[in-house]
Amino acid sequence: MTPSIRPYRPADRADVYDVCVRTGAAGQDASGLYSTDELLPDVFAGPYVDLEPESAWVVDDGSRVIGYVVAAADTPSFVSSYREHWLPGFAAKYAVATAADEPIIRMGLDPERMLVPEVSAYPAHLHIDLLPQAQGHGLGRALIDTLRADLHRRGIPALHLTMDPANTNARAFYDRLGFVELPSGSLGIATGPADA
Ligand SMILES: CC(C)(COP(=O)(O)OP(=O)(O)OC[C@H]1O[C@@H](n2cnc3c(N)ncnc32)[C@H](O)[C@@H]1OP(=O)(O)O)[C@@H](O)C(=O)NCCC(=O)NCCS
Repeated sequence: MTPSIRPYRPADRADVYDVCVRTGAAGQDASGLYSTDELLPDVFAGPYVDLEPESAWVVDDGSRVIGYVVAAADTPSFVSSYREHWLPGFAAKYAVATAADEPIIRMGLDPERMLVPEVSAYPAHLHIDLLPQAQGHGLGRALIDTLRADLHRRGIPALHLTMDPANTNARAFYDRLGFVELPSGSLGIATGPADA
């Protein structure tokens, strides 16, 4: 079956977690790097699909999810919701940290780190990941186009992302799609039709 993009469903959650960890080391497999493979998705995927499932899209190959884009349509609202609804469980789950886990846990405990200075002009933010076999076929572009069109329909003017500078492949992808570097170092783009 040709992979297709569709809205996220709760039954996709385990696949989303799997994709997140298998692409979580600057685009490479992060399996086994931390004390649990749930740590990265508990920071970069779980809160999005649980708190804001309506802003998540997946690539479905007919048997499983092989890629996703997750987003917060309004970053300040998402930060508040994260602090109230996600942080307590996260803090309890990761009360004991190994040295390797510590930097990721610190991010998970600090949702206000998402409040980049440009957030009023670029209120939405996203995370995107595709398994290796799904990469390089236009699906990343299609996911971003889907999200941009939906956010535009919902009245959100622009979105941003922050990324690991070591991920040079992802940076080339965002450059190709027309993202521009913002003063904070985040990347931003207007929503709306892809050619807008
Ligand atoms: C980064 C990622 C989302 C890109 O998605 P993708 O499906 O592989 O990219 P696409 O095939 O849609 O490429 C879209 C465009 O970007 C270009 N592009 C993609 N990767 C590129 C690269 N490494 N160098 C140069 N151009 C690149 C493509 O040539 C294509 O150009 P075109 O549409 O004008 O022909 C995907 O490769 C991925 O998930 N990688 C691993 C996880 C990751 O790094 N996530 C991002 C974290 S910030």
